[in-house]
Amino acid sequence: MKIIKDIKEMQNLSKNLKKDKSIGFVATMGFLHEGHLSLAHQAKEQNDVVVMSIFVNPLQFAEGEDFNTYPRDRKRDEKLAEEAGVDILFFPSPEEMYPENFQTHINVEKLTQVLEGASRPLFFKGVTTVVCKLFNAVKPIRAYFGEKDAQQLIVIKKMVEDLNMDVEIVPMPIIREYDELAMSSRNKYLNPEERKSAVSLYKALKKAKQMIDDKIFDTKIIIQNMEKIISSYPFTHIDYISINHISNLKSLKYIEIGKTLISLAVFVGKTRLIDNIWI
Ligand code: PAJ
Repeated sequence: MKIIKDIKEMQNLSKNLKKDKSIGFVATMGFLHEGHLSLAHQAKEQNDVVVMSIFVNPLQFAEGEDFNTYPRDRKRDEKLAEEAGVDILFFPSPEEMYPENFQTHINVEKLTQVLEGASRPLFFKGVTTVVCKLFNAVKPIRAYFGEKDAQQLIVIKKMVEDLNMDVEIVPMPIIREYDELAMSSRNKYLNPEERKSAVSLYKALKKAKQMIDDKIFDTKIIIQNMEKIISSYPFTHIDYISINHISNLKSLKYIEIGKTLISLAVFVGKTRLIDNIWI
């Protein structure tokens, strides 16, 4: 596995590779887990070369968020990436990505006003800007993103569509722990008691699914039931529970089968966790 830090070097290599090979790309912030690795495995299956980036993007963290404490373990990540079949690990530095006088950003306007965007106003501007820069460096034909970050996936697809970026966005299912907690680098922050309460997110989502199977389609009633489940666990504090249309993220009064995203963000202790299901 080749490790590259320099953007120009990455671009030159990709330019050469692209002549006769397909490049699959997985963007990450590192501290890799099975969720990230599932993206790499799929990329390996569908492409000649797999590039993974590891970059904790300062632009998508607000003041007071966890940029400084975000878990980092470079040696472990290198080993896991190599085992997953990654051919090139792209490791740019913040100075390389955002030199002094950097002043260009990408902003998807409407889809970013709700859900994660409402709670974290600058988050998506940071995500789309960095993903565009990474695409320009890596030049992939396909890029793999997890449904774990459902709104991120929807926003990135919109950016690609609106700006005619020549890359296929491949969505990948959520990988979960043994007790169905969605895998996340941030799960590391949870102490053992909080870890027990973290299962409440998926418990609530499963309750919603069960209600829909029972033909209850009123989203207000579903959300009330979800709130009840989460609140019954200690250390939890709900940021939002929301039911939206998958393509425009408009809030739904009634479930539309095949077109509905149920998502939530919950603080467990100080750790903010997100999860979702697509109905
Ligand atoms: P990060 O949280 O490291 O996630 C990198 C990719 O892995 C994203 O596409 C995310 O949706 C996917 N992923 C994370 N947990 C997953 C799980 N349990 N199952 C399946 N896929 C999972 O998302 C980011 O980084 C950043 O915002 C990034 C896109 C890299 C831009 O900085």
